Amino acid sequence: MEVSSKIIRWGILGCGKIAHKFAQDLLTVPNAKLEAVASRNEQKSREFGRKYHSNKCYDSYVALCLDARIDVIYIATPHSFHYKHTLLCLNHKKAVLCEKPFAMNAIQVAEMIAAAKQNNVFLMEAMWTFFLPHYQYVLHLIQSGELGTVTSIKSDFGYQFDFDSESRIYNKKLGGGSLLDIGIYPVFTALSMLGVPDAIKAKAKMTHTDVDESCSIEFKYTTGATATLFSSLIEETKTEAIIRFEKGTVQIHGRFHEPTTLTIITKDNKETKSFDVATNGYSFEAAHVTALLLNNKKESSIMTFDKSLQLIQLLDLIRSQIGLVYH
Ligand SMILES: NC(=O)c1ccc[n+]([C@@H]2O[C@H](COP(=O)([O-])OP(=O)(O)OC[C@H]3O[C@@H](n4cnc5c(N)ncnc54)[C@H](OP(=O)(O)O)[C@@H]3O)[C@@H](O)[C@H]2O)c1
Repeated sequence: MEVSSKIIRWGILGCGKIAHKFAQDLLTVPNAKLEAVASRNEQKSREFGRKYHSNKCYDSYVALCLDARIDVIYIATPHSFHYKHTLLCLNHKKAVLCEKPFAMNAIQVAEMIAAAKQNNVFLMEAMWTFFLPHYQYVLHLIQSGELGTVTSIKSDFGYQFDFDSESRIYNKKLGGGSLLDIGIYPVFTALSMLGVPDAIKAKAKMTHTDVDESCSIEFKYTTGATATLFSSLIEETKTEAIIRFEKGTVQIHGRFHEPTTLTIITKDNKETKSFDVATNGYSFEAAHVTALLLNNKKESSIMTFDKSLQLIQLLDLIRSQIGLVYH
């Protein structure tokens, strides 16, 4: 990647929880600057902007899109708005990094990708785990064949969220439920390490707000490989990923989707590896996008459009089995 003195000017759309962590990390990314933030609430926008040294603070998302100085917008609104807000930005010729899940279904994701191509602007799903050093390490280990092929994956993500029918976690209108919020990580683990499964079996327990409180998923591959995946909004689980190979096991310790450690166990050896990360971990995806934009790229070479489509198609299939329909 060529070194550039050019700065990529970022905007943040929606000043919620994850936007804070992202903004904090963006401060550490070379060639990146937080140019403007936008909240539906003027005071919230000003407070957020002041905290992360943003030049401008808008009280509307459209105003952010109309700012000619913005190169790329990070979308951090609830799932059900990703489609609408991504199209808003793309149609204003702004590059987009949009939080996971990319949208509510594969039809929306396909339209978002088409809009990016039509407007000739960059678009990527913020699947931050993909860019973390420990996760890249495991992917390279798989590719190297050093431990043979992967025979099974077991991965869970369980967290106890206090019940609030209005929160984006439980509210169906905001895309609530465990699968799209946290189950997406175990599903992504299986997808990124084993590929698209040949058979899927899923079952869920629903809340009285009619979203999945927990979701159990089995993936089967014609190679004989399997993935056992679980997510829950009501119980704290180890939130780890255990990857079994022909010649060993890699245990990505909890919480596996964040910067963490891992242990490699073979017949003769057991080694724990640490991956020192100085940020919340969002700096890696932000640096990736910044570098791509400096090189005028329109698609990530890591979190490709195909990968995002495969991911949302899997989530759609799982939802159809558990009867989770969003309107
Ligand atoms: N990558 C990760 O590690 C990670 C972690 C957590 C969440 N996420 C993803 O990021 C997205 C946001 O999650 P979050 O936890 O940051 O949510 P949050 O704290 O609820 O923030 C979402 C923000 O979206 C804006 N918004 C616009 N319309 C809204 C509406 N009708 N209701 C509620 N908020 C609305 C609000 O910003 P303003 O009031 O400022 O306009 C709100 O603060 C989700 O899609 C989630 O999956 C990713």
